[in-house]
Amino acid sequence: MTIIEQPASVPSPRAGGADGGPLLEVRDLHVEFHTRDGIVRAVNGVNYSVSAGETLAVLGESGSGKSVTAQAIMGILDMPPAKIPQGEVLFRGQDMLKMSADERRQLRGAKIAMIFQDALSSLNPVLTVGYQLGEMFRVHQGMSKKDAKAKAIELMDRVKIPAARERVNDFPHQFSGGMRQRIMIAMALALEPDLIIADEPTTALDVTVQAQVMDLLAELQREYNMGLILITHDLGVVADVADKIAVMYAGRIVEQAPVHELYKRPAHPYTRGLLDSIPRLDQKGQELYAIQGLPPNLLKVPSGCAFNPRCPKAQDICRTDVPALVEVTERDGGALPGRRSACHFWEETIHG
Ligand SMILES: Nc1ncnc2c1ncn2[C@@H]1O[C@H](COP(=O)(O)OP(=O)(O)OP(=O)(O)O)[C@@H](O)[C@H]1O
Ligand code: SF4
Ligand SMILES: [Mg+2]
Repeated sequence: MTIIEQPASVPSPRAGGADGGPLLEVRDLHVEFHTRDGIVRAVNGVNYSVSAGETLAVLGESGSGKSVTAQAIMGILDMPPAKIPQGEVLFRGQDMLKMSADERRQLRGAKIAMIFQDALSSLNPVLTVGYQLGEMFRVHQGMSKKDAKAKAIELMDRVKIPAARERVNDFPHQFSGGMRQRIMIAMALALEPDLIIADEPTTALDVTVQAQVMDLLAELQREYNMGLILITHDLGVVADVADKIAVMYAGRIVEQAPVHELYKRPAHPYTRGLLDSIPRLDQKGQELYAIQGLPPNLLKVPSGCAFNPRCPKAQDICRTDVPALVEVTERDGGALPGRRSACHFWEETIHG
């Protein structure tokens, strides 16, 4: 059995902001792209937050603005063509959008790390994984080559790569997709960040490997008491790992809820459609439900509720008035903490 040495400074409970509030808070964030065809409003007033030890899943179909929101948080959008006309990204209460490029660079990697979908294109093919993992320590902490290699092996152990000591000198292509994704997780963990943003970290993997990598990420997140933002288009993979969910559609959040509440009683027809599209073992052989139509072209978002052309519940008001993201309550007005919906007919959707 491999005995895994615990890094000295973890796990220690970490406070959120200076006042003990959320670790990261995104407020009224807008991102637009100025293109030759017009202005693409990819993120349209997004609000979400995540605390230490908490996992927020951000869910939505392709093109809903999940990655652009994350890239705006990380400060890795190319500006131009992107522009952030409005909004705040508060990390421990400090607005990252107002920081200098240097200050943001220091936060990235050290305090906030990102894991991308495609490990192969994120890793350098001509350098060993040990070198690339060790680089984090050599560059950021001025460690010697020998110590950095030892740290690399320790990290590979942490993410359960078998025979880490022997494999530390292998190149990325010598690992399977699942193992490469573990290496990406190890890279993200290297400097013990407070927050990890994982953008579709398991999408490229097959289903059983997806579950293993997701479980590992959840386990490490708990152990290190990190905040985790998990971006996915697959509602099936987040049920066991997320605390709360934000559902995005056409650049806006359309529903927010604690994870189990959302599964039990969605308060938005789009979420209901996503839930009905998850394959279920007890329905084997039956045709799978799919939400009709496609998400809108962001240059031509439908008026009113952007979901109206696809919504089985749409009425006239849906074609004219944009629904605000409002608090959702029980039938008798009782509070449902953390629940919000942007649907004119949320009441009949949740209680109907
Ligand atoms: N450089 C760019 N120029 C113009 N439009 C862009 C650019 N980058 C992203 N967009 C637009 O922003 C919208 C949101 O993109 P984003 O990558 O955030 O979607 P997503 O929700 O992450 O989707 P996916 O599940 O496919 O990753 C897309 O519709 C896309 O057209
Ligand atoms: S506002 Fe109307 S179109 Fe939009 S989700 Fe609700 S019922 Fe459907
Ligand atoms: Mg994306």
